[in-house]
Amino acid sequence: MTREEILQALREVHHPGRQDRDIVDLGMVHDVDIQDDRVVVTLAFPKRRDPLAEYLIGSTRAALVRLLPLGVTAEVKTVVVEEEKPKKKNLNLGLEQLAEVRHIIGIASGKGGVGKSTVAVNLACALARMGYRVGLADADVYGPSVPVMTGTEEAVPTAEMGGEEGQELFIPLEKYGVKWMSIGYFAERGQALIWRGPMACSALKQMILQVKWGPLDYLLIDMPPGTGDIHISLVQDVPMEGAIIVTTPQTVALADVEKGVNLFRAKGIDRPIFGLVENMAWFTPEAHPEEKYYIFGEGGGERMAREMGLDLLAQIPLVQGIRESGDAGEPVALGSRPDGLAFLELAGRLSQKLG
Ligand SMILES: Nc1ncnc2c1ncn2[C@@H]1O[C@H](COP(=O)(O)OP(=O)(O)OP(=O)(O)O)[C@@H](O)[C@H]1O
Ligand SMILES: [Mg+2]
Repeated sequence: MTREEILQALREVHHPGRQDRDIVDLGMVHDVDIQDDRVVVTLAFPKRRDPLAEYLIGSTRAALVRLLPLGVTAEVKTVVVEEEKPKKKNLNLGLEQLAEVRHIIGIASGKGGVGKSTVAVNLACALARMGYRVGLADADVYGPSVPVMTGTEEAVPTAEMGGEEGQELFIPLEKYGVKWMSIGYFAERGQALIWRGPMACSALKQMILQVKWGPLDYLLIDMPPGTGDIHISLVQDVPMEGAIIVTTPQTVALADVEKGVNLFRAKGIDRPIFGLVENMAWFTPEAHPEEKYYIFGEGGGERMAREMGLDLLAQIPLVQGIRESGDAGEPVALGSRPDGLAFLELAGRLSQKLG
């Protein structure tokens, strides 16, 4: 008795619930064990109960009995196998959509609320004013602020098919000469975004990797506050060329800045930090633009840059207009006021540095 002969006999057993295909063809014959006085066939069933299992076991035994000579017993066992999961689309987000992006730069900090988003949005506008092709991905899945800061919160991005693996691609919004993408466009207004860790990670990668950016000189990534798992996975999976660290002078401990810096300098990541931006470096009253009040102390940014071995790329004043224009969705970097010029200087310095 050979295995082939037994399989041939088992082809007589058909599964009425599955287009009457035979059990060999369906891959249900898990094992055939031929011994001197018995043959053991093991049938594989999916975890979900097959209502025809008993019928198939009986038919299989009958087929074996018909085939086997007298004195050889037929035995049928079963084993439960995990069903193969249907392949999910979008799972393998590749880097194809970043193929035509020259510089990908993360805007990060160790601490929240220091003005990352303000700097990112204004730097994007300033680079666009200089004639560069610019995009900005809002990677803050918990508190996206790009829609409000750019006055695009009513917009709904469209999608089109076109990824390498046939997945959808989101089309970024265009305003002020910049391409914007944010998870905020996909949420109800005012609705809190609550994510489990892994979901946040994948949503965030989608906002960067599943977007039809096209050719860009700069893609800025507005990083979420902190330096947790999300950040590490972001820095690992998105080919950022380097980062800009935003800080405020009153960041008493260097520790926060250090945490932000270390995220990029960690072993295996090792991306350059292009420099430090000191936000709210001094206070300037709206009515007296020439005055500077160092309400958080003077020289904090310089000292921090020196101690961390970083360039101080820019000092941005604390001005009421910066907050107001952020709330109004019209970044100051679009205008000609001195507070807007600080961002143009930053853009100039960065582009010089990157050649
Ligand atoms: N130089 C500035 N002058 C005046 N207001 C500012 C300045 N920079 C930031 N702000 C205001 O401070 C608030 C926090 O800024 P922003 O949202 O940019 O910080 P963030 O670091 O991105 O915060 P988060 O960590 O929550 O992402 C905003 O209301 C913003 O308008
Ligand atoms: Mg922010």
